[in-house]
Amino acid sequence: AIDPEFEQNREIVDEHEGHDVWGPVDEPDELGIHGTHVAVDFDLCIADGACLEDCPVDVFEWVDSPDHPESEIKADPAEEAQCIDCMLCVDVCPVDAIDVDAG
Ligand code: SF4
Ligand code: F3S
Ligand code: ZN
Repeated sequence: AIDPEFEQNREIVDEHEGHDVWGPVDEPDELGIHGTHVAVDFDLCIADGACLEDCPVDVFEWVDSPDHPESEIKADPAEEAQCIDCMLCVDVCPVDAIDVDAG
């Protein structure tokens, strides 16, 4: 499962489509965590797609991740600012790849 303390345990190494990327990143095998309020561990995501289907405000978008060992696409929290903290995505992800900081 995604580390809920990732903000303490990782560092921001990049920005992608307006959100942070938390390392380590070593493409194509290691992609890190995308997003902060809505954080998706790309190294855990298996492209199940439940988060895209269920998010009521369409926070997620597919991005390509060619040659990543778990999946060739990932759920990117492209519109994390739209999140209404319903926690559906956290509940439906089969590999617990998503953390939402509803603080
Ligand atoms: Fe979408 Fe709800 Fe997840 Fe926020 S918590 S990204 S609104 S499903
Ligand atoms: Fe990936 Fe989990 Fe969504 S596996 S596509 S983050 S439901
Ligand atoms: Zn991203």
